[in-house]
Amino acid sequence: TTPTEADLIGKNEVLPIYKPREKYSHKGHFGHALVIGGSYGKIGAVTLASRGVLTIGAGKVTAYMPKCGYIPLQSSFPEAMVISDVNDEKITKIDFNITPDAVAFGVGAGTDAKTISAFEAFLKTNTKPLVIDADGINILAKKKALLKSLPENTVLTPHPKELEGLIGKWTDDFDKLKKTKALSKKYKCIVVIKGANTITVYGDKLYVNATGNPSLATAGTGDVLTGMITGLIAQGYDALAATIFGVYLHGKSADLLVEELGYQSFIASHVIEGIPLAYLDLF
Ligand code: APR
Ligand code: MG
Repeated sequence: TTPTEADLIGKNEVLPIYKPREKYSHKGHFGHALVIGGSYGKIGAVTLASRGVLTIGAGKVTAYMPKCGYIPLQSSFPEAMVISDVNDEKITKIDFNITPDAVAFGVGAGTDAKTISAFEAFLKTNTKPLVIDADGINILAKKKALLKSLPENTVLTPHPKELEGLIGKWTDDFDKLKKTKALSKKYKCIVVIKGANTITVYGDKLYVNATGNPSLATAGTGDVLTGMITGLIAQGYDALAATIFGVYLHGKSADLLVEELGYQSFIASHVIEGIPLAYLDLF
């Protein structure tokens, strides 16, 4: 077998990626991210992702979600702007009047036929960098033809079950990596295999993340990661750099906070609260 080219990603590897802020910068310099997702009972996923976007440093975030999410999101996270779908409970038509620098699709979105059609129509006209997670990945798994419509360097962030939908069952870790590399090459996408040692796959190249711990095994931490990566892309990081850096900071946040909070009591909002510490820890 050929040896796999893999880089272990720790602080020394992400430091050169980091872009410091200039004194005369304003929020327009840090981009505007659009987070599309949510359905009745799963508005929190979009809220968490939107908080991830701004806390990682993007200038602005707009959440696109069904109408039922309007009040909860605006009241729990006033820093976000909201655009509502015409439907109360799910996304049925992706229609917005802003020009985002990066778009996330899928958290809490569900896989209703109308949501799938809306995503399909969106892909036909979208030219912006895209991050797809959760039900967005489940939709791609159901309709594999859509993979061809993704912009180059789209970031996919599946957990194991979502990955299985994309590449099928694997026999062992080598087989899983082989199948994921094939997917990445075929559709020119970046695939983040989430788990205890998150691996970012880009063609034949593997980036193994060194941060993170089992405190992250709790609802919503993946939604936060989606927002973090999208927020970095909106700020001008290229998709691969944003992915590697976002995964690192996400794990680092948990590593720093777990010393105070312990493994059991850590929840997804804590990942967001730890982002500043993870940034400060770089220096
Ligand atoms: N060690 C380190 N990191 C871990 C560990 C662990 N033992 N377990 C999980 N993580 C990290 C993963 O790497 C990932 O970044 O926590 C995050 C979990 O992400 P998801 O599996 O997507 O979980 P979640 O945010 O709850 O997903 C929300 O969307 O994907 C759907 O089915 C999912 O309903 C769920 C929802
Ligand atoms: Mg998830």
